[in-house]
Amino acid sequence: MKEATRLTCYLPIIIVLAADLCVGIRFSAQLSEGSITDTANQQQLQTAVFALGSFWRSEAVFGCLDGVVRTTVGYAGGSKTNPEYRSLGDHAESVQIEYDPKLITFKQLLEVFWTSHDSRQVFGQGPDVGNQYRSIVFTNGTEESRLASVSKEREQTRSKSGIVTTQIQQLGTFYPAEPDHQKFELKRNPFLLQLMGNLPEEELEKSSLAAKLNGYAAELCPPRLQKRIHPKINDILRKGWPILREV
Ligand SMILES: *[C@@H]1O[C@H](CO)[C@@H](O)[C@H](O)[C@H]1NC(C)=O
Repeated sequence: MKEATRLTCYLPIIIVLAADLCVGIRFSAQLSEGSITDTANQQQLQTAVFALGSFWRSEAVFGCLDGVVRTTVGYAGGSKTNPEYRSLGDHAESVQIEYDPKLITFKQLLEVFWTSHDSRQVFGQGPDVGNQYRSIVFTNGTEESRLASVSKEREQTRSKSGIVTTQIQQLGTFYPAEPDHQKFELKRNPFLLQLMGNLPEEELEKSSLAAKLNGYAAELCPPRLQKRIHPKINDILRKGWPILREV
C-alpha cells in the first residue's frame, strides 16, 4: 500500500522527466546534424593526408566517412614545386582530409587507409603502376608519427605474404590538384550533381555532401552508409523536390 502511494506521487514527475529527456535527445540530434554540415567550426577541424594509389579513388574512400567534413585531391611527398597532373614530378597522388576529431580519429582514418589498398604492392595499386601511386602516411607531429608507426607494424604482422611498402613522411606542402580531378567520381554522375542543385565548382570542392556523394557514386562507402544514402535519393526522386541537402 505504502509502495503504491509513493509510486503514484512520483509518477507525474517521472513522466515530466522522461518527456524532457526525449525533447532533449531530439533537439541535440538536430543540432549535431547541423553542426557537421553548416556550422562546422574551422578551428576544431584537423587535417590528414594519405597517398594510396589513384587519388580519384582515395577521395571516394575517405569522403563518405562520418566525421569527414571536406576532401581535396592533390600532390604531396615530392620536391617539385607547382606539380600538375601530367607533370607531377616525384609527388604521389594524395588526398587531404579535413575531419572533426570528436567524430573520427586519426587512428580510425589509419584503419581505413590500411583496409582500402594493398600496401604490399610496390609503387602502384592494381593496374595503376608508377611512383605517383605509392603508399604514404603523412604525419604532422610526433604523436601522429607514433600512431602511424604502430599501425604499420601491426599491418606488417598481419601481412604474411609480403613487405608493407608504405612510407611514413612528415607532411610538407600539399598542392591541390586541378578542378577536373576534384570529386572525380561524382562528376562522372551528372544525375547526382543535378540532385545537389549543380553547385558551382568552388562550392562543390568544399561541400561535405559532395564528398559523401563522391564516395557513394563510386560505391566505395561502407555498406552501412551506401544503404543510408540510397533511400534518401529515392525519396527525392519520388517527390521531385526539394534538392538533396544532406545525407
Ligand atoms: C599541424 O598541426 C598543427 C597543430 O595541430 C596545426 O596548427 C598545423 O596547421 C598542422 N599542419 C598541417 C600542415 O596540417
